[in-house]
Amino acid sequence: METKIAVLASGAGSNFKALVEGDTGPGRVDILLTDNENAGALELAAELGVESKYLYPGKYRTRFGIKEEKIWAEFLLDRGVGLVCLAGLMRIIKGPLLDAFQGRMMNIHPSLLPAFPGLDAQGQALNYGVKIAGCTVHYVDSGTDTGPIILQNSVPVFESDQRDSLAERILVKEHRIYSQAVKAHCLGRAVYSRVVR
Ligand code: GRF
Repeated sequence: METKIAVLASGAGSNFKALVEGDTGPGRVDILLTDNENAGALELAAELGVESKYLYPGKYRTRFGIKEEKIWAEFLLDRGVGLVCLAGLMRIIKGPLLDAFQGRMMNIHPSLLPAFPGLDAQGQALNYGVKIAGCTVHYVDSGTDTGPIILQNSVPVFESDQRDSLAERILVKEHRIYSQAVKAHCLGRAVYSRVVR
């Protein structure tokens, strides 16, 4: 059975595009939701012919207002969304949205978690001096980038790397593993409490 996917993004939307164009098995991207009226992802959605919508996130900068988070959750539930994919959503989700979709919400993060959670993971990795960096798709829990890991992939870090060159190399892998993780979930091969291999 088809799973309706909502992608939540604040920025450029390259992972959103990868999910629309990738093999997500029985999952299908139904809508792009954004908290940023100027998100590049909105233009991509128009180009890709995917419905998109801006929803007011509330007055805070890095989290939702409680009232607004409830509106987002209700919107997604009413639409029959079965899986929420965070793809560069620059807000912490803790309240009604997480309650409504726990176990049915995943995120992509540009580091090999549990290393370098939070902002600027690529910069953190470079500053630390790791020789291998990468990305992680994980289910969302109430922590920051702490939920059960579904898939990871790695890239080498070169002496010549700057933050942007490393981020670019990681992004290529992000695009690949995000649709793979979504497919695994939609086929019942990945579940929140236990990731089946
Ligand atoms: C990606 O690096 C993703 O891992 C992080 O935010 C960035 C979003 O990029 N969560 P894009 O908007 O998908 O291009």
